[in-house]
Amino acid sequence: MFARSTAARTLARRAFSSSARAERKVAVLGAGGGIGQPMSLLLKTDPLVTSLSLYDIRGAPGVAADISHVNTKASCKGYEQADIGSALKGAEVVVIPAGVPRKPGMTRDDLFVSYLLTLSLLSPLTSPLPSLPRLRQNTNASIVRDLAKACAEHCPKAMICIISNPVNSTVPIFAEVFKKAGVFDPKRLFGVTTLDVVRASTFLSGIQGTDPKDTRVTVVGGHSGVTIVPLLSQTEIAKGVSGQAYKDLVKRIQFGGDEVVQAKAGTGSATLSMGYAGATFVNSLIRGMNGEKNVVEPTFVKSPLYESEGVEYFSSNVELGANGVEKIHPVGQLSAEEQELLNACLPDLKKNIAKGVEFAKSS
Ligand code: NAD
Ligand code: LMR
Repeated sequence: MFARSTAARTLARRAFSSSARAERKVAVLGAGGGIGQPMSLLLKTDPLVTSLSLYDIRGAPGVAADISHVNTKASCKGYEQADIGSALKGAEVVVIPAGVPRKPGMTRDDLFVSYLLTLSLLSPLTSPLPSLPRLRQNTNASIVRDLAKACAEHCPKAMICIISNPVNSTVPIFAEVFKKAGVFDPKRLFGVTTLDVVRASTFLSGIQGTDPKDTRVTVVGGHSGVTIVPLLSQTEIAKGVSGQAYKDLVKRIQFGGDEVVQAKAGTGSATLSMGYAGATFVNSLIRGMNGEKNVVEPTFVKSPLYESEGVEYFSSNVELGANGVEKIHPVGQLSAEEQELLNACLPDLKKNIAKGVEFAKSS
Protein backbone atom coordinates (compact mmCIF):
# COMPACT_ATOMS: atom_id res chain seq x y z
CA MET A 1 0.00 0.00 0.00
CA PHE A 2 2.76 2.45 0.79
CA ALA A 3 4.97 2.53 -2.29
CA ARG A 4 3.21 3.06 -5.59
CA SER A 5 5.37 1.17 -8.08
CA THR A 6 7.81 -1.71 -8.18
CA ALA A 7 10.69 0.78 -8.40
CA ALA A 8 9.39 2.67 -5.39
CA ARG A 9 8.90 -0.58 -3.48
CA THR A 10 12.49 -1.58 -4.22
CA LEU A 11 13.67 1.81 -3.05
CA ALA A 12 11.65 1.57 0.14
CA ARG A 13 13.16 -1.85 0.86
CA ARG A 14 16.65 -0.58 0.10
CA ALA A 15 16.07 2.47 2.30
CA PHE A 16 15.07 0.10 5.07
CA SER A 17 18.07 -2.20 4.71
CA SER A 18 20.62 0.57 4.20
CA SER A 19 19.20 2.66 7.02
CA ALA A 20 18.36 -0.19 9.34
CA ARG A 21 20.12 1.76 12.08
CA ALA A 22 18.06 4.91 11.42
CA GLU A 23 15.61 5.15 14.29
CA ARG A 24 12.27 6.48 13.12
CA LYS A 25 10.12 7.01 16.16
CA VAL A 26 6.59 8.07 15.19
CA ALA A 27 4.24 9.51 17.82
CA VAL A 28 0.48 9.55 17.22
CA LEU A 29 -1.47 12.10 19.30
CA GLY A 30 -5.12 11.05 19.40
CA ALA A 31 -4.19 7.41 18.86
CA GLY A 32 -7.30 6.06 20.60
CA GLY A 33 -9.72 7.66 18.15
CA GLY A 34 -11.45 6.66 14.93
CA ILE A 35 -8.46 7.68 12.80
CA GLY A 36 -5.79 7.07 15.41
CA GLN A 37 -6.45 3.35 15.77
CA PRO A 38 -6.39 2.17 12.13
CA MET A 39 -3.59 4.61 11.26
CA SER A 40 -1.47 3.32 14.14
CA LEU A 41 -2.10 -0.25 12.99
CA LEU A 42 -0.95 0.62 9.46
CA LEU A 43 2.11 2.43 10.83
CA LYS A 44 2.97 -0.70 12.83
CA THR A 45 3.08 -2.60 9.52
CA ASP A 46 5.32 0.00 7.83
CA PRO A 47 8.90 -1.36 7.79
CA LEU A 48 10.27 2.21 7.87
CA VAL A 49 8.76 2.89 11.30
CA THR A 50 11.01 1.57 14.06
CA SER A 51 9.08 2.74 17.10
CA LEU A 52 5.48 3.81 17.69
CA SER A 53 4.41 6.02 20.55
CA LEU A 54 0.63 6.12 21.00
CA TYR A 55 -0.82 8.97 23.06
CA ASP A 56 -4.41 9.95 23.82
CA ILE A 57 -6.29 11.49 26.71
CA ARG A 58 -8.12 8.15 26.90
CA GLY A 59 -7.49 4.58 25.86
CA ALA A 60 -4.01 4.73 24.30
CA PRO A 61 -2.36 2.04 26.50
CA GLY A 62 -5.07 -0.45 25.48
CA VAL A 63 -4.72 0.37 21.78
CA ALA A 64 -0.93 0.06 22.09
CA ALA A 65 -1.15 -3.30 23.89
CA ASP A 66 -3.36 -4.62 21.10
CA ILE A 67 -1.26 -3.29 18.22
CA SER A 68 2.00 -4.34 19.88
CA HIS A 69 1.07 -8.02 19.27
CA VAL A 70 1.32 -7.52 15.50
CA ASN A 71 4.50 -9.34 14.50
CA THR A 72 6.37 -6.52 12.81
CA LYS A 73 9.62 -4.92 13.88
CA ALA A 74 8.42 -1.60 15.30
CA SER A 75 8.10 -1.39 19.06
CA CYS A 76 4.82 0.07 20.30
CA LYS A 77 3.98 1.77 23.60
CA GLY A 78 0.91 3.63 24.85
CA TYR A 79 0.88 6.76 27.01
CA GLU A 80 -1.78 8.42 29.14
CA GLN A 81 -2.42 12.12 29.55
CA ALA A 82 0.19 12.77 32.23
CA ASP A 83 2.87 11.08 30.10
CA ILE A 84 2.87 13.32 27.05
CA GLY A 85 6.53 14.22 27.63
CA SER A 86 7.61 10.56 27.49
CA ALA A 87 5.37 9.96 24.47
CA LEU A 88 7.06 12.77 22.54
CA LYS A 89 10.65 12.32 23.73
CA GLY A 90 12.82 11.36 20.76
CA ALA A 91 9.93 11.44 18.27
CA GLU A 92 11.06 12.31 14.76
CA VAL A 93 7.57 12.31 13.29
CA VAL A 94 4.44 13.38 15.16
CA VAL A 95 1.03 12.74 13.59
CA ILE A 96 -1.94 14.54 15.12
CA PRO A 97 -5.51 13.29 14.60
CA ALA A 98 -6.64 14.51 18.06
CA GLY A 99 -9.91 16.40 18.15
CA VAL A 100 -13.61 16.35 17.47
CA PRO A 101 -15.04 15.09 14.14
CA ARG A 102 -17.99 16.58 12.23
CA LYS A 103 -21.65 15.62 12.43
CA PRO A 104 -24.13 16.12 9.56
CA GLY A 105 -24.87 19.80 8.97
CA MET A 106 -21.50 21.01 10.27
CA THR A 107 -18.66 22.50 8.28
CA ARG A 108 -15.06 21.79 9.21
CA ASP A 109 -14.82 25.39 10.35
CA ASP A 110 -17.53 24.65 12.93
CA LEU A 111 -14.97 22.36 14.62
CA PHE A 112 -12.68 25.31 15.31
CA VAL A 113 -14.75 26.10 18.39
CA SER A 114 -17.65 23.80 19.14
CA TYR A 115 -19.92 24.29 22.08
CA LEU A 116 -21.35 21.42 24.09
CA LEU A 117 -24.51 22.05 26.00
CA THR A 118 -24.00 20.52 29.41
CA LEU A 119 -25.87 20.70 32.70
CA SER A 120 -23.88 22.49 35.31
CA LEU A 121 -22.90 20.26 38.19
CA LEU A 122 -21.13 23.09 39.93
CA SER A 123 -22.23 24.33 43.33
CA PRO A 124 -23.73 27.80 43.77
CA LEU A 125 -20.40 28.81 45.24
CA THR A 126 -18.57 28.27 41.95
CA SER A 127 -21.39 28.82 39.47
CA PRO A 128 -23.79 31.71 39.53
CA LEU A 129 -26.40 29.69 37.59
CA PRO A 130 -26.13 26.17 39.01
CA SER A 131 -29.40 24.79 37.70
CA LEU A 132 -29.24 26.22 34.19
CA PRO A 133 -27.58 24.62 31.16
CA ARG A 134 -24.06 25.90 30.59
CA LEU A 135 -22.06 26.25 27.44
CA ARG A 136 -18.74 24.48 27.64
CA GLN A 137 -16.07 25.16 25.07
CA ASN A 138 -14.49 22.15 23.44
CA THR A 139 -12.31 23.27 20.59
CA ASN A 140 -10.06 21.62 18.10
CA ALA A 141 -8.25 24.95 17.99
CA SER A 142 -7.30 24.74 21.65
CA ILE A 143 -6.53 21.00 21.46
CA VAL A 144 -4.03 21.65 18.66
CA ARG A 145 -2.63 24.72 20.43
CA ASP A 146 -1.97 22.72 23.60
CA LEU A 147 -0.44 19.78 21.72
CA ALA A 148 1.77 22.27 19.86
CA LYS A 149 3.01 23.61 23.20
CA ALA A 150 3.89 20.07 24.26
CA CYS A 151 5.72 19.39 20.98
CA ALA A 152 7.61 22.69 21.24
CA GLU A 153 8.83 21.60 24.65
CA HIS A 154 9.56 17.90 24.06
CA CYS A 155 10.34 17.40 20.34
CA PRO A 156 10.85 20.79 18.66
CA LYS A 157 12.75 19.27 15.73
CA ALA A 158 10.18 16.60 14.85
CA MET A 159 8.28 16.56 11.56
CA ILE A 160 4.68 17.44 12.47
CA CYS A 161 1.73 16.14 10.44
CA ILE A 162 -1.61 17.75 11.31
CA ILE A 163 -4.82 15.86 10.57
CA SER A 164 -7.14 17.61 13.08
CA ASN A 165 -9.70 19.83 11.38
CA PRO A 166 -10.06 22.51 10.25
CA VAL A 167 -6.61 21.85 8.75
CA ASN A 168 -6.67 25.27 7.00
CA SER A 169 -6.64 26.87 10.49
CA THR A 170 -5.00 24.25 12.74
CA VAL A 171 -1.72 24.32 10.77
CA PRO A 172 -1.35 28.11 11.24
CA ILE A 173 -2.24 27.69 14.95
CA PHE A 174 0.54 25.12 15.34
CA ALA A 175 2.99 27.38 13.51
CA GLU A 176 2.19 30.39 15.71
CA VAL A 177 2.75 28.39 18.91
CA PHE A 178 6.11 27.21 17.57
CA LYS A 179 7.00 30.78 16.58
CA LYS A 180 6.19 32.01 20.10
CA ALA A 181 8.42 29.26 21.51
CA GLY A 182 11.19 30.24 19.05
CA VAL A 183 11.35 26.78 17.45
CA PHE A 184 9.35 27.18 14.21
CA ASP A 185 10.88 25.54 11.16
CA PRO A 186 8.43 25.86 8.23
CA LYS A 187 10.05 22.88 6.51
CA ARG A 188 8.85 20.56 9.27
CA LEU A 189 5.15 21.37 9.50
CA PHE A 190 2.62 19.63 7.23
CA GLY A 191 -1.15 19.71 6.95
CA VAL A 192 -2.21 16.26 5.78
CA THR A 193 -4.34 16.65 2.63
CA THR A 194 -3.57 13.17 1.30
CA LEU A 195 -7.18 12.02 1.67
CA ASP A 196 -8.21 14.49 -1.06
CA VAL A 197 -5.60 12.94 -3.35
CA VAL A 198 -6.71 9.41 -2.43
CA ARG A 199 -10.35 10.29 -3.13
CA ALA A 200 -9.56 12.01 -6.43
CA SER A 201 -7.69 8.89 -7.56
CA THR A 202 -10.54 6.57 -6.50
CA PHE A 203 -13.36 8.66 -7.99
CA LEU A 204 -11.57 9.32 -11.31
CA SER A 205 -10.54 5.70 -11.78
CA GLY A 206 -14.13 4.71 -11.00
CA ILE A 207 -15.29 6.79 -13.97
CA GLN A 208 -12.51 5.83 -16.37
CA GLY A 209 -12.19 2.17 -15.41
CA THR A 210 -8.49 2.50 -14.58
CA ASP A 211 -6.47 1.05 -11.72
CA PRO A 212 -6.44 3.66 -8.90
CA LYS A 213 -2.77 2.95 -8.23
CA ASP A 214 -1.91 4.34 -11.69
CA THR A 215 -4.42 7.21 -11.44
CA ARG A 216 -2.66 10.03 -9.68
CA VAL A 217 -4.37 13.42 -9.40
CA THR A 218 -2.71 16.51 -7.96
CA VAL A 219 -5.01 18.36 -5.56
CA VAL A 220 -3.96 21.85 -4.41
CA GLY A 221 -5.28 24.61 -2.13
CA GLY A 222 -6.56 23.66 1.30
CA HIS A 223 -8.67 20.97 2.95
CA SER A 224 -12.34 22.00 2.99
CA GLY A 225 -15.03 22.49 0.36
CA VAL A 226 -14.11 25.00 -2.30
CA THR A 227 -10.56 25.35 -1.02
CA ILE A 228 -9.94 21.82 -2.38
CA VAL A 229 -8.82 22.28 -6.00
CA PRO A 230 -8.23 19.12 -8.10
CA LEU A 231 -6.03 19.65 -11.14
CA LEU A 232 -7.60 17.07 -13.46
CA SER A 233 -6.25 18.74 -16.61
CA GLN A 234 -2.77 17.59 -15.54
CA THR A 235 -3.83 13.93 -15.52
CA GLU A 236 -3.88 12.13 -18.85
CA ILE A 237 -6.48 9.67 -17.52
CA ALA A 238 -8.94 12.53 -16.90
CA LYS A 239 -8.92 13.58 -20.57
CA GLY A 240 -12.44 13.15 -21.90
CA VAL A 241 -14.15 13.85 -18.58
CA SER A 242 -15.95 17.08 -19.44
CA GLY A 243 -19.20 19.01 -19.10
CA GLN A 244 -21.50 17.86 -16.28
CA ALA A 245 -19.36 14.77 -15.60
CA TYR A 246 -16.35 17.04 -14.93
CA LYS A 247 -18.39 19.33 -12.65
CA ASP A 248 -19.79 16.34 -10.72
CA LEU A 249 -16.33 14.84 -10.31
CA VAL A 250 -14.85 18.11 -9.00
CA LYS A 251 -17.77 18.51 -6.58
CA ARG A 252 -17.37 14.92 -5.35
CA ILE A 253 -13.66 15.45 -4.69
CA GLN A 254 -14.33 18.77 -2.91
CA PHE A 255 -17.18 17.39 -0.79
CA GLY A 256 -16.13 13.74 -0.40
CA GLY A 257 -15.84 14.26 3.35
CA ASP A 258 -19.56 15.21 3.52
CA GLU A 259 -20.45 11.95 1.78
CA VAL A 260 -18.89 9.99 4.66
CA VAL A 261 -20.28 12.30 7.36
CA GLN A 262 -23.82 11.79 5.95
CA ALA A 263 -23.39 8.02 5.64
CA LYS A 264 -22.12 7.75 9.23
CA ALA A 265 -25.24 9.66 10.31
CA GLY A 266 -23.87 11.44 13.36
CA THR A 267 -21.28 8.89 14.48
CA GLY A 268 -18.27 10.65 12.95
CA SER A 269 -16.42 11.38 9.74
CA ALA A 270 -13.88 9.53 7.60
CA THR A 271 -11.64 7.41 9.82
CA LEU A 272 -10.54 4.30 7.90
CA SER A 273 -9.73 6.01 4.59
CA MET A 274 -8.03 8.77 6.63
CA GLY A 275 -6.04 6.18 8.55
CA TYR A 276 -4.82 4.85 5.20
CA ALA A 277 -4.11 8.35 3.86
CA GLY A 278 -2.25 9.37 7.03
CA ALA A 279 -0.09 6.26 7.05
CA THR A 280 0.64 6.75 3.33
CA PHE A 281 1.78 10.33 3.95
CA VAL A 282 4.00 9.31 6.87
CA ASN A 283 5.60 6.59 4.72
CA SER A 284 6.42 9.17 2.03
CA LEU A 285 7.77 11.58 4.63
CA ILE A 286 10.10 8.94 6.12
CA ARG A 287 11.25 7.81 2.67
CA GLY A 288 12.26 11.43 2.02
CA MET A 289 13.93 11.69 5.45
CA ASN A 290 15.82 8.46 4.68
CA GLY A 291 17.33 9.99 1.55
CA GLU A 292 15.07 8.63 -1.17
CA LYS A 293 14.85 11.13 -4.03
CA ASN A 294 11.77 12.41 -5.89
CA VAL A 295 9.27 11.65 -3.15
CA VAL A 296 6.48 14.11 -3.95
CA GLU A 297 3.15 14.53 -2.13
CA PRO A 298 0.63 17.38 -2.09
CA THR A 299 0.62 18.80 1.45
CA PHE A 300 -0.46 22.03 3.16
CA VAL A 301 2.69 23.93 4.10
CA LYS A 302 3.99 27.44 4.56
CA SER A 303 4.30 28.35 0.92
CA PRO A 304 5.47 31.29 -1.16
CA LEU A 305 3.09 30.45 -4.05
CA TYR A 306 0.24 32.83 -3.14
CA GLU A 307 1.91 34.80 -0.36
CA SER A 308 1.60 37.99 -2.40
CA GLU A 309 -2.19 37.49 -2.23
CA GLY A 310 -2.04 37.12 1.55
CA VAL A 311 -2.26 33.31 1.53
CA GLU A 312 0.59 32.14 3.75
CA TYR A 313 -0.13 28.38 3.68
CA PHE A 314 -1.05 26.40 0.59
CA SER A 315 -1.09 22.79 -0.48
CA SER A 316 0.73 21.89 -3.68
CA ASN A 317 3.09 19.13 -4.72
CA VAL A 318 6.00 19.15 -2.29
CA GLU A 319 9.23 17.21 -2.65
CA LEU A 320 10.09 15.61 0.70
CA GLY A 321 13.67 15.26 1.89
CA ALA A 322 15.98 14.75 4.85
CA ASN A 323 14.84 18.02 6.43
CA GLY A 324 11.19 17.85 5.46
CA VAL A 325 10.12 20.25 2.71
CA GLU A 326 12.81 20.04 0.05
CA LYS A 327 11.05 21.88 -2.77
CA ILE A 328 7.58 23.39 -3.22
CA HIS A 329 6.35 22.88 -6.75
CA PRO A 330 4.22 25.56 -8.40
CA VAL A 331 0.71 24.52 -9.43
CA GLY A 332 1.69 24.37 -13.12
CA GLN A 333 -0.54 24.98 -16.12
CA LEU A 334 -4.22 25.37 -15.20
CA SER A 335 -7.32 25.03 -17.39
CA ALA A 336 -9.84 27.89 -17.38
CA GLU A 337 -12.10 25.88 -15.04
CA GLU A 338 -9.22 25.22 -12.64
CA GLN A 339 -8.28 28.91 -12.62
CA GLU A 340 -11.88 29.63 -11.57
CA LEU A 341 -11.67 27.01 -8.82
CA LEU A 342 -8.42 28.56 -7.60
CA ASN A 343 -9.98 32.03 -7.64
CA ALA A 344 -12.77 30.72 -5.41
CA CYS A 345 -10.31 28.91 -3.11
CA LEU A 346 -7.89 31.71 -2.25
CA PRO A 347 -10.20 34.16 -0.39
CA ASP A 348 -11.67 31.35 1.78
CA LEU A 349 -8.24 29.96 2.51
CA LYS A 350 -6.96 33.40 3.47
CA LYS A 351 -9.83 33.79 5.98
CA ASN A 352 -9.30 30.30 7.46
CA ILE A 353 -5.58 30.97 7.90
CA ALA A 354 -6.15 34.40 9.46
CA LYS A 355 -8.62 32.84 11.92
CA GLY A 356 -6.00 30.32 13.07
CA VAL A 357 -3.27 32.95 13.40
CA GLU A 358 -5.59 35.30 15.30
CA PHE A 359 -6.65 32.53 17.72
CA ALA A 360 -3.07 31.52 18.48
CA LYS A 361 -1.91 35.11 18.93
CA SER A 362 -4.74 35.99 21.27
CA SER A 363 -4.69 32.87 23.44
P1 NAD B 1 -12.42 10.69 17.20
O1 NAD B 1 -13.32 11.45 18.09
O2 NAD B 1 -12.81 9.32 16.82
O3 NAD B 1 -10.96 10.62 17.81
C1 NAD B 1 -10.32 11.76 18.29
C2 NAD B 1 -9.40 11.31 19.42
O4 NAD B 1 -8.70 12.48 19.88
C3 NAD B 1 -10.15 10.72 20.63
O5 NAD B 1 -9.62 9.45 20.94
C4 NAD B 1 -9.89 11.73 21.74
O6 NAD B 1 -9.78 11.15 23.03
C5 NAD B 1 -8.56 12.32 21.28
N1 NAD B 1 -8.25 13.61 21.89
C6 NAD B 1 -9.07 14.65 22.16
N2 NAD B 1 -8.37 15.64 22.74
C7 NAD B 1 -7.11 15.22 22.84
C8 NAD B 1 -5.92 15.79 23.35
N3 NAD B 1 -5.91 17.01 23.89
N4 NAD B 1 -4.78 15.06 23.27
C9 NAD B 1 -4.78 13.82 22.73
N5 NAD B 1 -5.87 13.23 22.23
C10 NAD B 1 -7.02 13.92 22.30
O7 NAD B 1 -12.23 11.60 15.88
P2 NAD B 1 -11.60 11.14 14.47
O8 NAD B 1 -12.67 10.64 13.60
O9 NAD B 1 -10.39 10.31 14.71
O10 NAD B 1 -11.16 12.57 13.88
C11 NAD B 1 -10.15 13.33 14.49
C12 NAD B 1 -9.94 14.65 13.76
O11 NAD B 1 -9.45 14.40 12.43
C13 NAD B 1 -11.21 15.46 13.58
O12 NAD B 1 -10.92 16.83 13.82
C14 NAD B 1 -11.57 15.27 12.12
O13 NAD B 1 -12.32 16.31 11.58
C15 NAD B 1 -10.19 15.21 11.51
N6 NAD B 1 -10.10 14.59 10.16
C16 NAD B 1 -9.23 15.12 9.29
C17 NAD B 1 -9.06 14.58 8.02
C18 NAD B 1 -8.08 15.16 7.05
O14 NAD B 1 -8.14 14.82 5.87
N7 NAD B 1 -7.15 15.98 7.46
C19 NAD B 1 -9.83 13.45 7.65
C20 NAD B 1 -10.72 12.93 8.58
C21 NAD B 1 -10.86 13.51 9.84
C1 LMR C 1 -12.62 14.46 5.38
O1 LMR C 1 -12.27 15.07 4.38
O2 LMR C 1 -13.17 13.34 5.33
C2 LMR C 1 -12.30 15.02 6.73
O3 LMR C 1 -11.83 16.33 6.63
C3 LMR C 1 -13.39 14.88 7.73
C4 LMR C 1 -14.59 15.73 7.43
O4 LMR C 1 -15.04 16.44 8.34
O5 LMR C 1 -15.11 15.68 6.32
